[in-house]
This record gives sequence, C-alpha cells and structure tokens, in this order.
Amino acid sequence: MSSSSSSSQNTLKVGIVGFGTFGQFLASTMLKQGHTITVTSRTDYSQLCNQLGIPFFRDALPFLEADNDVILICTSIISLSDVLKSLPLHCLTRRTLFVDVLSVKEHPRNLLLQVLAEEMDVLCTHPMFGPESGKNGWKDLSFMYDKVRVRDEVTCSSFLSIFESEGCRMMEMSCEEHDKLAAKSQFVTHAIGRILVEIGIESTSINTKSFETLVKLKENVSNSSFDLFSGLFIHNRFAKQELMNLEQGFEMVKQKLLKMNEEQNLSKSNNAMNGY
Ligand SMILES: NC(=O)c1ccc[n+]([C@@H]2O[C@H](COP(=O)([O-])OP(=O)(O)OC[C@H]3O[C@@H](n4cnc5c(N)ncnc54)[C@H](OP(=O)(O)O)[C@@H]3O)[C@@H](O)[C@H]2O)c1
Repeated sequence: MSSSSSSSQNTLKVGIVGFGTFGQFLASTMLKQGHTITVTSRTDYSQLCNQLGIPFFRDALPFLEADNDVILICTSIISLSDVLKSLPLHCLTRRTLFVDVLSVKEHPRNLLLQVLAEEMDVLCTHPMFGPESGKNGWKDLSFMYDKVRVRDEVTCSSFLSIFESEGCRMMEMSCEEHDKLAAKSQFVTHAIGRILVEIGIESTSINTKSFETLVKLKENVSNSSFDLFSGLFIHNRFAKQELMNLEQGFEMVKQKLLKMNEEQNLSKSNNAMNGY
C-alpha cells in the first residue's frame, strides 16, 4: 500500500464526509491554510462547493478514489454508523488517515476500528469549539485528540498542525477520559441549555449578568442541532449518570426550598398563637 505524497509538503488533501455547519466551518480554515478539500455529504452541496472552488461528490466511490491523505468525518453522532456503512471503504488503495471530529469519542473510535482495514490510520479528535466560539479565530481554544492507530506520523502531525498553527490548546488524552470529562461539562451544559429552551426564558429589561449568561446559553444551544444533543447522551456511556445527577440536584434544591418554606410558615403560625 502506498502512502501520502502531499503530506510531506505540509499541505494535505482532505476529503470531508458531512458538509453541515461544522464541516463547512472547518473547511474554511483549511482552505485558508492552502489544503486541498473534496466533499461528500447526504445533502447536495454542489452549489456551495462550486462557490468555494472545491469538488463535491454525490457518489462516495469517486470521492474515496480521489487520493486523499485524510478522510475527515464530520457527520452527526447518531448517523455515524449508517454513514460509515454506506461508504465503499474496500475501494481505498492507499493508507489514509481517518479523522473524526465527533463530540463523543469512544463511539467513533470503536466504529472506525470495526469498519476500517488494519492498514488505515485512525485519529480521534474533538475541537472543543464551534462556529460561534471560534468565529474570531481559534487561539487558546482547546483541541482534544487521541492517536488511536497512527503509523504515518508525518500525515498525522500535518493534520494536527492545522489546529496548532491557529493557536489551539492541544490536549492529547484517551477517548475514555474525554467522554468522562465531556459528560460532566459539555453534556451538562447542553442539558441545562435545553431545559432553558423548554421553559422559554427570555431577556428582560432588568437582566443580571448571570441571567444574561443563561440567555446566551439558551441561544447557543438553540443554534445547535437536537441530533448533536441526543448524540451526546446516547453515545457517551458516562452521560446517563450526569442526567441522574442533574435530576437529583434539582430534587435536593426543591426539597431544601420547600422545607425552608414550611419552617417559615410554622414559625409564623407559632408566633400568631403566642400572640406575637
Ligand atoms: N457544531 C459544533 O460546534 C461542533 C463542535 C465540535 C464537534 N462537532 C461535531 O461535528 C459533527 C457535525 O456537527 P454539526 O454542528 O454540523 O451538526 P450535526 O447535526 O451534529 O451534524 C450534521 C452533519 O451530519 C450529517 N448527517 C446527519 N444525519 C445524517 C444521515 N442520516 N445520513 C448522512 N448524513 C447525516 C449532515 O449531512 P448533510 O449536511 O449532508 O445533511 C451534516 O453534515 C458532529 O459529530 C458534532 O458532534 C460539532
């Protein structure tokens, strides 16, 4: 099996699978850096790709035959399994680095190791930012990665340089460690944001700074897909515990308030009985 030709010059041929919000967001920086991009996606993005000057393949076969150094998986978490199954992966004739950017990590790692031939390299990543938080550049934003199966270090480090050179905080950690931490941070954030959406909080004329943070959280969460949120729960085995913790936390706060209220009422009626 032959290996990369373009990676030694530091520019990569990157084939993106899934050209939704996040795929497009990553592509704009990669194009700015001089990488060559090709795209395939469920939706027809041929017009947009035409404007960007990059090829769009409806058909996955010519996409895979386009001699990419990297195949970058940017599909939703819940569609990953079907998307991977739909790709004619046996047609790949050269070692390719498969990278995913899904917001959970054990799930894509397991699936990629299952469906890919042994010769293919696997890098699991999670850019801890999105189109909103990264709109003014990626400096000091975290980028998590796990070199799950990497033999071609040159291509892998060229890919990581895309984020390093933008000033990202590069965080190497296992997929398991990522999922534990992300359940406690990202999942809890999205869950609280979704609750705020459900109760319909709105900005008022007397906002405190803290309340403005909540309004912003509600807006951010509303701008991300429900597929993303459900994926954070269904495909992160640590998220269920965090959902239970949230429920318990809510119940404890409620009980404390009701108890206080009862004590106050009791003290008021005692005072009244004692003639105070
Ligand atoms: N948005 C962020 O801030 C952010 C940050 C870090 C990581 N991520 C990760 O990046 C990935 C993409 O996120 P996103 O924000 O673009 O939104 P998303 O709703 O999680 O994913 C949208 C993408 O998934 C594809 N897709 C959805 N259902 C599909 C299906 N049944 N078959 C084939 N393709 C399907 C869409 O394809 P079409 O567009 O062709 O319909 C689109 O490319 C996710 O895995 C997410 O966890 C997102």
